[in-house]
Amino acid sequence: MADIQLLNLSKRWGAVTGVKTMNLHIADGEFLVLLGPSGCGKTTTMRMIAGLEDVSDGQIRIGDRVVNDLDPKDRDIAMVFQSYGLYPTMTVYENIRFPLKVRKIPQAEHHARVMRAADTVELGELLNRKPAALSGGQRQRVALARAIVREPKVFLMDEPLSNLDAKLRVSTRAQIKNLHHELKTTTIYVTHDQIEAMTLADRVVVMNKGEVQQVGTPLEIYDRPANTFVASFIGSPAMNLIPGEIRGGTFTAPGVEIPGFAAPDGTVTLGFRAEDAQVAASGEIQAPVYSMELLGDSSMATLQLGSKSFAAVKSAKDFKAEIGDSLAVRAPASICHLFDAQTGQRIVGANR
Ligand SMILES: Nc1ncnc2c1ncn2[C@@H]1O[C@H](COP(=O)(O)OP(=O)(O)O)[C@@H](O)[C@H]1O
Ligand SMILES: [Mg+2]
Repeated sequence: MADIQLLNLSKRWGAVTGVKTMNLHIADGEFLVLLGPSGCGKTTTMRMIAGLEDVSDGQIRIGDRVVNDLDPKDRDIAMVFQSYGLYPTMTVYENIRFPLKVRKIPQAEHHARVMRAADTVELGELLNRKPAALSGGQRQRVALARAIVREPKVFLMDEPLSNLDAKLRVSTRAQIKNLHHELKTTTIYVTHDQIEAMTLADRVVVMNKGEVQQVGTPLEIYDRPANTFVASFIGSPAMNLIPGEIRGGTFTAPGVEIPGFAAPDGTVTLGFRAEDAQVAASGEIQAPVYSMELLGDSSMATLQLGSKSFAAVKSAKDFKAEIGDSLAVRAPASICHLFDAQTGQRIVGANR
């Protein structure tokens, strides 16, 4: 077990910046998720921690050791990637055992450790199969078992579920969560999928363009996004973001008039979540329906606000409206967020 510290960590290739001055402390036993769009620097961060990429600046500490100059094999880390990287000619058993051979672990320990790792991810029945005879989900479980068998101080997982179909992703996700509950190994997990991040993480690090945007528990980043980037990345649908202006504490935009803000006059971006607003007989928003979608457990009305903005509002699954109908929506200041129109940063204390 070990904690991990990233101190002013950065990575550049000539003029290209992969990661900008990152500072992070990952607690012993924590499950930390790096979340952000493609190209934001997640894999680069992982590869530096694993020792597969040199750092340009800064320090990486695992436990009480600075590991900058340690070879990957000496960092006591096991990685799981999107591509499973199994040896096609070896059985599941031999694939799981392979890291023990490479590391010259005494033969006598192999069988018990392979069986324990295989049981943890429920592969007991498949030990004699070759990878070609396994489904994608089973292959990814072999890759997990091969990481588990080493009993490392740290797991690094880079988009391990992205090659699986939607249903399998959900069940394998639950398995990874359960695995961490059992082993309590410090884990850094990379994904571009915000639902994966929200469901798995103790804390989420939201990244964009090589920079950390916010660090917090899933609830913190959902309830109090630090800026419009985080607001538009978290939640499904993402938070509604509506440009408008504050005059005398009242926010206005086409079809929208919300009093009760404690913010100075000026242009701002209003944010609220589809699930916090309510279709009603009258409300702060009055606008035509742009589309209606049945989601299953609920339905979603998208309203058109003037020529450029839209707002999604969740309603009961049996709620019916036609495109073009004028809808009233309750969206009081107490459910709203305000962001600076220029910087996108949350305006603290204006509302929630
Ligand atoms: N070896 C490299 N040389 C130059 N640029 C790179 C190299 N590896 C990654 N990058 C760039 O660094 C940025 C971050 O990449 P990466 O960490 O792979 O993003 P992510 O994993 O979040 O999708 C991207 O703009 C990518 O093109
Ligand atoms: Mg990547």
